[in-house]
Amino acid sequence: MRRKLAAGNWKMNGALSAMAEVQAICDAHPAPGVDLLLCPPATLIWPMASMRGSHPMAVGAQDCHMAAKGAHTGDIAAPMLREAGATHAIVGHSERRADHGETSATVRAKAEAAHAAGMTAVVCIGETLEDREAGRTLDVVGTQIAASAPDGATAANTVVAYEPVWAIGTGKVPTLRQIGEVHAFLRAKLVARLDDEGTGIRLLYGGSVKASNAAEIFAVDDVDGALVGGASLTCADFSPIISALE
Ligand code: G3P
Repeated sequence: MRRKLAAGNWKMNGALSAMAEVQAICDAHPAPGVDLLLCPPATLIWPMASMRGSHPMAVGAQDCHMAAKGAHTGDIAAPMLREAGATHAIVGHSERRADHGETSATVRAKAEAAHAAGMTAVVCIGETLEDREAGRTLDVVGTQIAASAPDGATAANTVVAYEPVWAIGTGKVPTLRQIGEVHAFLRAKLVARLDDEGTGIRLLYGGSVKASNAAEIFAVDDVDGALVGGASLTCADFSPIISALE
C-alpha cells in the first residue's frame, strides 16, 4: 500500500518571512494522514528544517549536483543538502531541463547522487504541448522514465512526478483520463523494470493542482499524490490540497 504524498515545490519563491506559512501548514496538519514534503530554495532548507522541529513534514531540495564535491561554482552537492536538513531532492524538473539543458542522463546521475547521500530522489518527467498534440506523450515519458530513473531505484529512495510541461503554471490540466493513462503506463514500466519496488514507487501528478481540482485528480488510479508549485506557497492554498489527499 503506497502512502500518499503531498509535495510542494516553491521554485524560486519564498523568504525567511514565509516560514510563518510553513508553521501554519504544520499547525493545520499536526498529525498528517499523508506524507508531507516542502522543497524551498536552497537558502531556506536549513531554516525550514529547523522551524519544523518534530513535525513529520519533510524538507527537500529542488536540485542537486551529480558530484559529491568539487570545483563546481554555484552548485550544491547532495551531501551538503542532506546536512542542511533536506531528505529529498527534486531532479529533472522541466524548468531545469529547459533552463539548464539537463538531459535524462544528467537527471539519472543526479538521482544517483541523491541516493548516495541517503536522500530520496523525486524524478520529474513530462511531455511538451507539441509532444501531446503529436500523439507522442507515452513515447516521450516512457523514454524519460527509462533514462532518468536509476537502476537502484526503490520505493524508499525514489518518487516519480509526472508533470506535463504545458500544465505547469498555466491553469491547464489534462483530463482525468489522460492523467490515468500516463500513470498506468508509468506504473507498468516501473513494475516491468523494478518488480516489487516498481509497485511501491509513488507516482505524483504535477501541473496546476489546486484546491478545486485536487480531489478528482487524487481519485485517479495510480495517482499517489501531487507535486504542487504555486499552490504550495501558502497554507490557505496548500492545506486544502493536503486535506483532499488525507
Ligand atoms: O513542480 C511543480 C510544478 O512544476 C507545478 O507547478 O504551479 O503548476 O502547480 P504549478
